[in-house]
Order: sequence, then structure tokens, then C-alpha cells
Amino acid sequence: MYIKSLTVENFRNYDYEKIEFLPTTNVFYGNNAQGKTNLLEAVYLFSHGRSHRAHSDSELIKFGKEFYSLSLTFADSLREYKTDIRFTNDKKKQIKINNVPITKLSMLMNYLNVVIFSPEDLDLVKGSPARRRNFCDEALSQMYPKYLSALINYHKALVQKNSLLKKIRLSGNSNDAMLSCWNEQLASYGIIIYNERMAFLKKIEELAKTVHKDITGEALSLEYVSGIKLKEPTPDEFLTVLEKNQKREIEQGASLIGIQRDDFKIMINSNEAKIFGSQGQQRTCVLSLKIAETEYIKTIKDEYPVLLLDDIMSELDINRRKYLWECITDKQVIMTCTDTDILQSTDNTRLFNISEGKIIR
Ligand SMILES: Nc1ncnc2c1ncn2[C@@H]1O[C@H](COP(=O)(O)OP(=O)(O)O)[C@@H](O)[C@H]1O
Ligand SMILES: [Mg+2]
Repeated sequence: MYIKSLTVENFRNYDYEKIEFLPTTNVFYGNNAQGKTNLLEAVYLFSHGRSHRAHSDSELIKFGKEFYSLSLTFADSLREYKTDIRFTNDKKKQIKINNVPITKLSMLMNYLNVVIFSPEDLDLVKGSPARRRNFCDEALSQMYPKYLSALINYHKALVQKNSLLKKIRLSGNSNDAMLSCWNEQLASYGIIIYNERMAFLKKIEELAKTVHKDITGEALSLEYVSGIKLKEPTPDEFLTVLEKNQKREIEQGASLIGIQRDDFKIMINSNEAKIFGSQGQQRTCVLSLKIAETEYIKTIKDEYPVLLLDDIMSELDINRRKYLWECITDKQVIMTCTDTDILQSTDNTRLFNISEGKIIR
């Protein structure tokens, strides 16, 4: 899968730019705050429908303008696509795929697959469980529409259950029938998410282990951590676990168990990287996980995703940089850096200079 061209208009610090990409390596270099990450953000929008860092689409409109508009052409082994995204402050976001409007953001996810890797991804090791759940959810949602819809429905039901728990706590009147109804919904969506995450982490562990061993000689392992603690549960078993804490849930006015609280541990030689790993070891874990995610997508889709590397080469030592460089030779990469000295080779590479939202090839 590769991106052929991107047009941006009134997006972040860009007025209007059209960029033609190579199917191999594309490097955007320039000083800080010139618009490098903004470009990757624009590409990311086409795979997830939302930004990887902004809270709202209004932030993405160039200061003083009324709308932003983006257009992307890309191809997989079967055909070519053109996707348009336009956002105006007073209207909803409009997305078209091959000139046909789509009604749900989630429909976008079936088309372009990307893996983004930036310095903030160190959070994957150091950050909160939400960050690691997000790693699973983001990859699985791109691969399986069924997973994404289970996730959306689960969270809707969870909001309802929590508000009911609060009501019961305040009023003292239990509403068991309604609670059971939400728990049943949570169980039926939750089991899909639980099973898929388990299978995903197993696969990611296998792939990341090999990468990590090649780079460091150390043994990386992953362990899914969940209050549910069941191996291949049936829907009934899953439901029983959700219902187990009902009394305490009412006392606290919140759901205490479920996939919204799950996490996974990243271990190096059996020690948790979050607690015992050096900064360098943690960074290498992220590198291994990201490469594993890329390979995972390839196993499912039979196509490599596009890799978006945001200023990460400069953070890696020479061996890790070499390893990553070898890894990306057969994939499309869009990378940013401040200094072109970090490039291992300029074969099959297109260089773009970015300065104040203007791109010079
Ligand atoms: N909505 C916006 N309108 C205009 N400029 C913006 C907007 N959002 C961010 N910027 C500008 O974009 C620049 C940051 O771009 P970014 O791509 O993050 O930089 P870098 O090149 O360091 O990756 C900053 O100068 C910021 O002021
Ligand atoms: Mg940046």
C-alpha cells in the first residue's frame, strides 16, 4: 500500500501544498515548528478519521481561515483510491472516498493503513494503561470493523451502566433488571474485545520478540493483564465475572471490572520494562512493538501499512537506526527529521525541505 499524493489547504500552518510521494522513502526535513508533524498528522487523518494529537478538528484549520481541506490518492495491489476530507467550523466533517460521501468515520479505517511512530510513543511503555489499550484498539480497529463496532457499542453501554449505578447509589433503589440488561450488553461486546486483544498480543509478542532479540539479544515478552482472568471464556462466564462486583459497584457508583480497565505488561528478561528498564531499553521496546505492529498488519491485509516516522531516527543509536533502516527498505515511509545527516542512504529517497509551511523538493 502506498500514498501517491497529498494536497493540503488551510491545514495547520499550510496555505496550499501538493506533494507527490515516492512509493519508497520520503523525507521531510527542516527546523523545529515548520510543519513537519503537521503533514504526518494530515496523512494520519486519512487512516483514522481523526488526528493523533489534536482534540478537535477546529484546531486543524489554519488560524484565521474558515475550513481545511485535504485530498489523498493512494493505491494498494488491487486499485487506486482518492479520499477527500473537508471540515468547516459550523458543519460536520465531510469525507468522500472515490467521490462517494461516507456516513461513518469508521468506514475510513478499511482503506488506508498506517503505523505512526513518534517520540511520544515512549508512553507505550511508561504511560498509563489507557495508552497500551489504545495500542491494541488502534491496530485491531484498522483490521477488523467488527472489533471497532464492538468497542464503540461497549463504551456506549458502559456510559449507560455507570450513570445507572450513580442513580442507584443516590436513590438507594436498585434496578436489577436494567443493570442486568447493561451487563449483558457489556458481556456480548466485551468478550469480542477481550478475545481479540489476547490473540493480538500473542501475535505481537511473537513478532516483537524476534525483532527485540535481533537488536539487543534480550528476551521481550508481553502479558495481558485483566480483572476478567478467564481463558477463552464463554459469554455466560464472562457475564458472571461482570456481575460479581455488583454490590461494590453500586456503593462506588462505577463499573469496577471490564475491558476498559485492562492493560498489558511489557517485560525484558522477565522484568517489567516500565519499572526496571532504562530509557534506552524502553525506547527499544517501543521500536520492537511498532515493527511488530507493521508486520502484524501485513499478515492480515497482505499489504504493508505506510510508515509514518516522526523525528525518531535522531533518538536511536547507530545500531538501532541501521536496523530500522533495513526494516523499512521494502515499505513506503514518510519520515521527518531536523537533520539529514541521520539518513543511512538516499537511494530511493525523495527529500523535501519544509520551512514555515512551504515545501521545497
Ligand atoms: N491551526 C493552526 N494554524 C496555523 N498554524 C498552526 C496551527 N496549528 C499549529 N500551527 C503551527 O504549526 C507549527 C508546528 O508545526 P509542527 O508540524 O508541529 O512542527 P515540526 O516541524 O516541529 O514538526 C507551529 O509553528 C504552530 O504554531
Ligand atoms: Mg514535529
